[in-house]
Amino acid sequence: MENFAGSLSRLTGESTLLYQEIARNVERTKGIKTINFGIGQPDLPTPQRIREEAKLALDKGFTAYTPALGLDELRSKIAEFLTQRYGDQIRKEEVAVTPGAKTALFLAFLMYVNPGDEVILFDPSFYSYAEVVNLLGGKPVYVPLSFDENSGFSVDMDELVSKITPRTKMIVYNNPHNPTGMNFNDKLARELVEIAREKRLILLSDEIYDYFVYDGGFRSVLQEAWRDNVIYINGFSKTFSMTGWRLGYIVAKREVINKVGILASNIYTCPTSFAQRGALASFDTFDEVRRMIDLFKRRRDVMFSELKSLKGIRVYKSSGAFYMFPDVSEILKTTGMDSKALAVKIIEEGGVVTIPGEVFPEKVGRNFLRLSFALDEEKIKEGVSRMKMALEKLTG
Ligand SMILES: Cc1ncc(COP(=O)(O)O)c(C=O)c1O
Repeated sequence: MENFAGSLSRLTGESTLLYQEIARNVERTKGIKTINFGIGQPDLPTPQRIREEAKLALDKGFTAYTPALGLDELRSKIAEFLTQRYGDQIRKEEVAVTPGAKTALFLAFLMYVNPGDEVILFDPSFYSYAEVVNLLGGKPVYVPLSFDENSGFSVDMDELVSKITPRTKMIVYNNPHNPTGMNFNDKLARELVEIAREKRLILLSDEIYDYFVYDGGFRSVLQEAWRDNVIYINGFSKTFSMTGWRLGYIVAKREVINKVGILASNIYTCPTSFAQRGALASFDTFDEVRRMIDLFKRRRDVMFSELKSLKGIRVYKSSGAFYMFPDVSEILKTTGMDSKALAVKIIEEGGVVTIPGEVFPEKVGRNFLRLSFALDEEKIKEGVSRMKMALEKLTG
């Protein structure tokens, strides 16, 4: 028996990968090519200028450690960019570059969550928040989102406030939201910052999908009075198609960033040197980003109108990120299946990968499937049409 630390037993492991594995089996045994709505990354390559810059850095031998908090130039550039975008004077000393936004999130939880502390999460949420809170001995406390086909997903603020106890340490906010595809209204950012300040809680705001906005404006917590108690997370993965580069960042007041530096130097020393050089060029590629967002908006429209035509499905036309999160409760009722079994059947019968909402804790997702529209229109059309056939077979 391995003698692992007890805390490891509290991790459930990432289950989105399981469905890719089932798809590979179906491809092997049935000889069909599956269509993958399970992916959580843009399908476009990293813009060329970014790649060129990283190559140049490698060729010039820029391969040594960098400062733990990231290259000064990159931290300054991020601070300058956010200052321009949100109007507040953000300083280099308030920025830490990390190996991916996931690491940034991990560090944020590590800095604040003691065993027994409660962390308020939206239900459903990106799976990793609850995993890390559990790992640290904290307790996720969920606030369910309600669903309306026309207006999307919303949180009841009174209910959120009612969940705050003397043990509450943090509220986690993610906008635009994975898995629902919701771009929450401006009021929510404002209210969450206010409540967190009033109740002396940390507000952890994950804004990694901030460019993937199709309807409505976008309001960042950095547009509020954030310095006292907000930890802002973002990264290069989604906006610049750089998932494999592993670069994210934290914005918080100096004292917090200093702690990040201490943790960083003990965990990973620094983010990858030449990747950071590449990221410096990303700020010159916003034309490409805008083209990508236009493309994703068209894909969203296509997926929405295709899904709309399926019987037993209620779907909101997602306003952000690149996910559609249809309610399949009627199909679950007719077939007697749960969303996990349904997702497996859709792979086996239709060769289409979706992610069951159950993967996103805690309970609300059980009636939903998550589909990514980060793939081309023809595939979206074919995938939904195959889903339709599979569902018709299942529901009779
Ligand atoms: C909400 C959310 N936050 C963070 C991440 C992680 O991003 P990164 O690739 O920068 O670690 C993801 C990736 O799927 C995500 O969906």
